[in-house]
Amino acid sequence: MEILVLNAEEMAEVIDIKEVIEANKLALKAYSEGKANIPLRTNLDISKYNGQSLYMPGYLADEGALGIKIVSVYPDNIKKGMTSVPSLMLLVDDKTGFPISMMDGTYLTQLRTGAISGAATDILAKKDSKVFTLIGAGGQAELQLEAVLAIRDLEKVYIFDINEDNRKKFVNEMNEKYSKKYNVVIEECISLENSIKESDIITSVTTARNATFNGDWVQEGAHVNGVGSYTPDMAEIDSKLILKADKIYCDTKDALVESGDFVQMIEKNIFDISQVNGELGEVISKKIIGRENDNEITFFETTGNAVLDIMVAKRIYDFAVKKNFGNIINM
Ligand SMILES: NC(=O)c1ccc[n+]([C@@H]2O[C@H](COP(=O)([O-])OP(=O)(O)OC[C@H]3O[C@@H](n4cnc5c(N)ncnc54)[C@H](O)[C@@H]3O)[C@@H](O)[C@H]2O)c1
Repeated sequence: MEILVLNAEEMAEVIDIKEVIEANKLALKAYSEGKANIPLRTNLDISKYNGQSLYMPGYLADEGALGIKIVSVYPDNIKKGMTSVPSLMLLVDDKTGFPISMMDGTYLTQLRTGAISGAATDILAKKDSKVFTLIGAGGQAELQLEAVLAIRDLEKVYIFDINEDNRKKFVNEMNEKYSKKYNVVIEECISLENSIKESDIITSVTTARNATFNGDWVQEGAHVNGVGSYTPDMAEIDSKLILKADKIYCDTKDALVESGDFVQMIEKNIFDISQVNGELGEVISKKIIGRENDNEITFFETTGNAVLDIMVAKRIYDFAVKKNFGNIINM
């Protein structure tokens, strides 16, 4: 048995963020058309070590993408100087059942999560969007930034994070990497209110349990991505924004009950899931309509799904084989 092992650097070299965005669009379309086999993830409680281990399998027959991502959540790892969310992706050949590749699951998650916001922004944001506010400067932030830079010709990006050290360090690093490449000014957000009022695109990707910005500040025509909330007690998007949005979309409707952004409004009886226009995949397959004019406010919520992991991992594997990247181990 031959397994191709790919680390994050190799994965970044073989695939471009625009290719990941296009792969995500195909994955979401297939998911919404019922063509993906994505069983409910299995969650093992490892209470002895204050951990959880999650197993996310999936199969997309049309793409020959079959595999499983393992993600664990071990908060105590941080004290030991290790990541609290270690992850591995394992791809399997759907023709033979043989495992064919192992790759860095943490980087894969950053890549596909950045690209899902990129895909939503590409489909839903105004074509001439110029200003972007990114809230949250943690592990996911860089690819959230690059995905949006890759699909819109932006002039200015504001970065906000409640942690000043994270914010300053991130702004410096992103300026070095992307301001020349994309001809854009990337700066620290001084007034969140002013930045949001100026923005055509806003992404919140934080671990916040309360709204990261005031929904009243969001102007006509803006597009907002909500990325961080994945448990009922996390609600980083102000309900005022969701209630005033003209159109609301998500990656997968089934998982919206996991997101506090929606659950908390439903519990207060101020929102019903039927107010969500539909899945991004349905917009892609033209089953439902997206933005209709430059005055509408659009909101997109992602909770993530294994269909994105298997699809992007398969693309990375195919490119790596073609370009001779990675190390092969024989078992
Ligand atoms: N939707 C998906 O598919 C998906 C995928 C991966 C991660 N996530 C979620 O995205 C969130 C961010 O992930 P990460 O890896 O970047 O986390 P992280 O812990 O590396 O960074 C989170 C950042 O958010 C900042 N923050 C917290 N509260 C804030 C607030 N009120 N305003 C501004 N900044 C605030 C923190 O200071 C930190 O810098 C997590 O909740 C994670 O579970 C979602």
